[in-house]
Amino acid sequence: MGTPLNLLPMFGHTRGNRSAATCHFKCGNACAKDVCNTSTNNYFRDIADAALTRRAALGLGGVAAGAVVVGAHLATAPEAAADFGGNGQGGGKLNFKAIAPVPKNVDALTVPAGYDSHVIIRWGDPIFNDAPEFDAKNQSAAAQAKQFGYNNDYLNITADQGNSRRGILVANHEYTNEELMFDAEWAAANPEEVRRIAIEAHGMAVVEVRRDKAGEPWNYVKSGARNRRITGSTPFTVDGYAAGSDLLKTVADPTGKRVLGTLNNCAGGTTPWGTVLSGEENFNQYFQGTGSATDARYGISSAPSERGWELTDPRFSAQNKGYENEINRFGWVVEIDPQDPTSTPVKHTALGRFKHEGANIRVAEDGRVVAYSGDDERFDYVYKFVSKNKISKDREANKKLLSEGDLYVAQFTGDSPASEIDGSGKLPSDGAFDGSGKWIALTKNGKSQVPGMSIEEVLVYTRLAADKMGATKMDRPEDVEPNPVTGKLYIALTNNTDRGKPGKKAGADEANPRAGATSATANRDGHVIELTETKNDATAVTFNWNILLLCGDPKNPVSQQYFAGYPAEKVSPISCPDNLAFDSKGTLWISTDGQPGTIGYCDALHKVTLTGAERGKVEQFLAVPFGAETCGPLIHDRDNSVFVSVQHPGEGGSFAAPISYFPDYITNPAQAKKGQLSGPRPSVVQVYSPAGANNGKGNK
Ligand code: FEO
Ligand code: CA
Ligand code: CA
Repeated sequence: MGTPLNLLPMFGHTRGNRSAATCHFKCGNACAKDVCNTSTNNYFRDIADAALTRRAALGLGGVAAGAVVVGAHLATAPEAAADFGGNGQGGGKLNFKAIAPVPKNVDALTVPAGYDSHVIIRWGDPIFNDAPEFDAKNQSAAAQAKQFGYNNDYLNITADQGNSRRGILVANHEYTNEELMFDAEWAAANPEEVRRIAIEAHGMAVVEVRRDKAGEPWNYVKSGARNRRITGSTPFTVDGYAAGSDLLKTVADPTGKRVLGTLNNCAGGTTPWGTVLSGEENFNQYFQGTGSATDARYGISSAPSERGWELTDPRFSAQNKGYENEINRFGWVVEIDPQDPTSTPVKHTALGRFKHEGANIRVAEDGRVVAYSGDDERFDYVYKFVSKNKISKDREANKKLLSEGDLYVAQFTGDSPASEIDGSGKLPSDGAFDGSGKWIALTKNGKSQVPGMSIEEVLVYTRLAADKMGATKMDRPEDVEPNPVTGKLYIALTNNTDRGKPGKKAGADEANPRAGATSATANRDGHVIELTETKNDATAVTFNWNILLLCGDPKNPVSQQYFAGYPAEKVSPISCPDNLAFDSKGTLWISTDGQPGTIGYCDALHKVTLTGAERGKVEQFLAVPFGAETCGPLIHDRDNSVFVSVQHPGEGGSFAAPISYFPDYITNPAQAKKGQLSGPRPSVVQVYSPAGANNGKGNK
């Protein structure tokens, strides 16, 4: 039934940082549409407070970039001129020499000298004994439900307790690229099956992994007892203060406590009790709304959705009687237990509903747990949740910690005079973009703290609640991650070229200091904030903050940059910070989403030193292939391994005319065997040093 799906992206809608296809498929062209946050909330105070913390001492170091040799499916970059060995202060255990940035049309995974790469699992790989072999030209929803999903994003791999040779991999499957997944002619003739396959290609995957010994590459186990696919149709339980609310009831679920599926799962986090949190991000694009004000605040259009899922299942249109609230059942943090494939995953309403990039936990001194989360939209907010109860040895009780607690939104205050924050990105006279801040309570002890809104309304319409309370409008908060070594919080703000534009758009403030319509000032490259909770207490309601990085390409500067005072000419270029990770020493690693469109290089994974003389030094570790984004970085430096989700390789091409052949590089379709594809497949990759710690000198 229904009309054929339009497989081609609507070109001309991008805003410079992503390809047109990424904008279309990933976030429903969010940036081409009006800004969702039209609230008059423009709180930002600039005060002089010289007593606040200052950045660490500056230092010296060396970096130079050379040309990349390409052509093979694995490109090893030549050594940079200076030693990037991780022996400096703050460095982790992975020794490497930074690679040179890779031109954006290079179709190779590029790793440092001395490193190799290994594909653990690809889109379509069967993960059950009875799952059919991948066959792109004969795909079905039933097959996809038993295979690894599309566009892996968040990633974690953990070895089982007491067994270093067995482990478990959990990945998010954020969205689908129908133009790369399907032959256009077949898709046009089978629109209903295409939509059903897409629904099953979303969600999450749990897959057991095995290796010969620690330090060796992991392989996935097709018959793993814990293997599981969670998709756009898997039943979820709803918990928290909004569970059972009228706002969550539909004709198919009069309880308001049972939802089918999770969608647009972007980043996430693994909890100390071994479950995985996953953020439902750009959920708006899957629904046809009614045109209400609350729909508008979430970017939900009353027009038919571009994916057309409402043609397959009536719940995807709020215009269908009885399904007015289905939209409200997405936009949550979900929790799954990868150890128990029979467990019912949960949507936690106490953490609020917005475009959750992900959620990451820090355990406070008193045992309460704090979950940090960003709302990835231009001019949206940073949140934290503080649990009511304390962590214990009771795993089942821990799985309920996110069911009850208080939700806060961040308000940032600068310490420099407003006149010195001119939107150019130039440092104010005190030498830092920095200041203090407050966590403003939206809920407390199970009660709303927002005038005129019930707690159910606060949790379901969290963006509107935060608007009322004076939250600070940020430049697209992506990952918000606490450093497991220091407790400091790092916030990736990926970009926002709309700041300071005419209309009701907020201008520069000290926490978002680049603004304006011209590329000389617009925040196209993003920045990273470092936040320290008062007394380093995760439950504190106040904090200090500073900008660690104003990203960009120092060799071809378009706008002002800042690398915590480290010499800009000595860092790897970096743009559009997205996912954050830490190694065992608390060194920051940043993956990017959008470098091809801004600084002209393939997306990357960078190491950033946080302490000592080299604080602010950015060193590129790898680059992903043509059209791809780097996601889910995972740094196992004790195993000399780095894992990445290579998401949407070849985006910008099509099934018939690929621009990437990652990861198998079968360029002749006639040579593709059963289970293979002559074209790109999103994959999870392990980059490892076969020689172990090689001191950055490569293999002997
Ligand atoms: Fe799915 Fe905010 O990236
Ligand atoms: Ca300042
Ligand atoms: Ca992301």
